[in-house]
Amino acid sequence: MDLHRSLLFVPAIRENMLEKAVSSEADIVVLDLEDSVPQAEKAQARELARRHAPLIAGSGRTVHVRVNSGEQAREDVAAVLCTAVSGLSLPKVEGPQDVRDIDIVLREFELRQAIKPGQTELVVWIETARGLQRASESLTASTRVKAAALGHEDYTNDLGIQRTAEGAELDFARNLIAVAAIAVGVTPLDGPYSDFRDVEGARAELERIKQMGYKGKFCIHPAQLADVNAAFTPTPTEVEYARRVVGAYDEAEAQGRGAVQLDGKMIDVPVARRARRLIEAAAAIERRSNA
Ligand code: COA
Ligand code: MG
Repeated sequence: MDLHRSLLFVPAIRENMLEKAVSSEADIVVLDLEDSVPQAEKAQARELARRHAPLIAGSGRTVHVRVNSGEQAREDVAAVLCTAVSGLSLPKVEGPQDVRDIDIVLREFELRQAIKPGQTELVVWIETARGLQRASESLTASTRVKAAALGHEDYTNDLGIQRTAEGAELDFARNLIAVAAIAVGVTPLDGPYSDFRDVEGARAELERIKQMGYKGKFCIHPAQLADVNAAFTPTPTEVEYARRVVGAYDEAEAQGRGAVQLDGKMIDVPVARRARRLIEAAAAIERRSNA
């Protein structure tokens, strides 16, 4: 599976930004046809997305498109789906029917474009109270669903609450989405940090969401990508320590002992398992980055 650490939104209407996306460090470039595009410019945005998707994919980046939910979704897909587009961000999902509807549309246009049926992945956006309550059902409504994301702005708007800098008002939804996603084997992703000049605030938020189980985050500005990639990549020190943990555990096990100590800390089955996961995650990132 493609890496999903950093996902950069690019308004499909902004040609200079589409051109910049070719050299960005985003794991996934998300061409936006939804809320960054005024309705009057929708047709042109579709055309630009269709033209730039192959150029961005050709530079080795994974390309997704954020379509509109509801009525406009079909025409969005009809306009942009091609072999260069690996996935769709589906906004404002309120329940499993929304996912099933887009699944049918995708099936139709995958056939026309000679794309393997079922190959186009979905990132399901939860952005309303209703959507949050039905998150588990939505995430299991299609095998295409590979990730779940929380839309901060629309969600707090739906609840009629104010946003704060530290974001405690998002805790409940963030926790719920992380648990719902991990429970069904999809990747939880956080929505973007909109105050893009506030580097410290963004870093504090990354620490907070990592502790909730998030494995990636959307960005709105290329300057946010480096910190996001770093946050979701094990450091060499972490990998080195994990190797020592696994080594100590394997040695103990070979001698018929269960728990052992390393640097004064207990190493038992779950600690060794966590270390193995970290090593695997680092190796997967290494493989993808070199691909
Ligand atoms: N993708 C690609 N390039 C981007 C970019 C993005 N999301 N955001 C900024 N850039 C480019 C700018 O075009 C500029 O390029 P230049 O130096 O060649 O002129 C450079 O990065 C520096 O940008 P900067 O001047 O700091 O910001 P800005 O005022 O041009 O743009 C925003 C700020 C918020 C308008 C812009 O980042 C943006 O539109 N982000 C995405 C918004 C979006 O998709 N929203 C919907 C999802 S929530
Ligand atoms: Mg939204």
